[in-house]
Amino acid sequence: MFKYHKIGLLVFVIFLFLVSLIFQACQKEEENVILTPGGRVALPSELSAGNSTIFSSTSKAFDTPANWVTGSLMDLFLKGDALYDNPRVSGENTTSGGLGPVYAGYSCASCHNDAGRTRSTLFTAGGSGPYGFSSFLTFIRTPNDQNFRQYGRVLHDQAVYGSKPEGKLRVTYTEKEYSFPDGEKYSLITPHYEIYDWYADSIPLDQIELSVRVPLRHVGMGLMMALDQNEILRLATIQYPEYGISGKVNWVPERNKKYLGLSGHKAQHADLTVELGFSSDLGVTNDRFPHEVAEGQSQVNGNYGIQATTKEMAAVDFYMHALGVPARRAVTNPVVQKGEELFYQAKCNLCHTPTLHTKAGGVQLIDGTNVPWLGSQVIHPYSDYLLHDMGPELGDDYSQFNATGDEWRTTPLWGAGLQEIVNGHSNFLHDGRARNFVEAIMWHGGEGDVSRQKFSKMTKEERETLIMFLRSL
Ligand code: HEC
Ligand code: HEC
Repeated sequence: MFKYHKIGLLVFVIFLFLVSLIFQACQKEEENVILTPGGRVALPSELSAGNSTIFSSTSKAFDTPANWVTGSLMDLFLKGDALYDNPRVSGENTTSGGLGPVYAGYSCASCHNDAGRTRSTLFTAGGSGPYGFSSFLTFIRTPNDQNFRQYGRVLHDQAVYGSKPEGKLRVTYTEKEYSFPDGEKYSLITPHYEIYDWYADSIPLDQIELSVRVPLRHVGMGLMMALDQNEILRLATIQYPEYGISGKVNWVPERNKKYLGLSGHKAQHADLTVELGFSSDLGVTNDRFPHEVAEGQSQVNGNYGIQATTKEMAAVDFYMHALGVPARRAVTNPVVQKGEELFYQAKCNLCHTPTLHTKAGGVQLIDGTNVPWLGSQVIHPYSDYLLHDMGPELGDDYSQFNATGDEWRTTPLWGAGLQEIVNGHSNFLHDGRARNFVEAIMWHGGEGDVSRQKFSKMTKEERETLIMFLRSL
């Protein structure tokens, strides 16, 4: 009797031990033990990006390396950061030369200030800035999807001394007032564009396929590149006919292969576009794009050579992969928690997917270097990285691969709550036309209409509560 009792106890103790092991293993998979600057263990809901989460809510929140960046990795990060930030000038093929002769920005950071979204001259100067500075991109193309003779794929609205910009963009807005069912008012502004001061042939607007876009925040781009792509493909197979929502993949043909499109407002790129950015945005040639962007223009003469090395391109690529993702704030605040519930009630989560995973082993940089730290992480980007038809009001006529004019990639919302602190403005959407979160939501048409409807029908307090949640991201 006594003996059986003892064995029973032993079995029970072993059972408890096994259960606790299983429990711990499950926990480990979901949680990284990350300490906050105050020394406490971070809450799982604060960890936006697993081991790449950083605790900063200052203007440097997007421009801080992840904790795993140490030693020689830090040297590479700082080298990439400098190449990214430092203004380029014309002439000499040094680390700060090669700008132009025509360009759209004078450094990556001129448009992505502090790795964010520079306040655009669309709002501060009514279009192209007059003094070498603009901070948006104007894509132009013939109706047959060709580049115009004499012009690049983007309108280079700036030029170095002695050269002439390809043209200037002017934007005007018409404003219309609306009311929520409860009477609260809001207004939306619609942009109208005009291109003037053409370098050569003037092209009438109705003969241009045009897309004007503001920069994207550089939050979590390394994790985006490390995504478990099968998870994205699976999301694309899920349809919500009851809400009219169905995400779609953009396939990007490159070097005779097809890649899953992830970056850009139409998910039209499969990588972080370092070489393309240097070439097309800054006019800095490199091994992948050895020709000057404005080569057909008579003002471009002579051989400019390679103006940025492959090593430099890889350093910038590493810098962007190694940026930390700011931790969420105020996660225990009941208003923020209620706002999160409302986010689900309004079906925002069907496109702004809260949780995704990165693949085991991490990701490779453009020079083949492996970055294992980005692998096997639970991340909270609030995006499915898929295309959705957002209706004709938000659309343009500029399709890119599978993405039609009306389709846009769900913008990841991590870091969106800090944009105002980092970049000093709250303009949202691909062309920045939304001046705050409320306007961004009220522009959601097409597949996003269900969310817009549900948001409008909330009480004023509920709408504000949902916005409090967005501010915590
Ligand atoms: C003239 C402004 C401008 C300059 C200069 C510029 N960018 Fe951008 N960047 C943009 C815009 C606008 C977008 C959105 C473009 C789109 O949808 O095609 C963007 C998008 C990106 C994205 C995609 C981000 C995402 O979340 O999908 C990356 C990566 C990027 N830029 C990197 C760079 C790098 C690297 C440089 C410097 C070599 C650079 N950019 C220079 C304006 C600029
Ligand atoms: C059908 C998919 C879908 C649904 C549902 C949806 N969104 Fe979006 N959201 C998008 C897409 C696509 C964009 C990019 C549109 C653009 O740039 O023109 C976007 C952009 C945004 C932006 C702007 C982000 C930025 O940085 O520019 C915010 C904020 C936003 N959504 C919040 C919400 C909220 C809150 C809800 C629920 C009330 C919601 N969305 C529902 C697809 C969706």
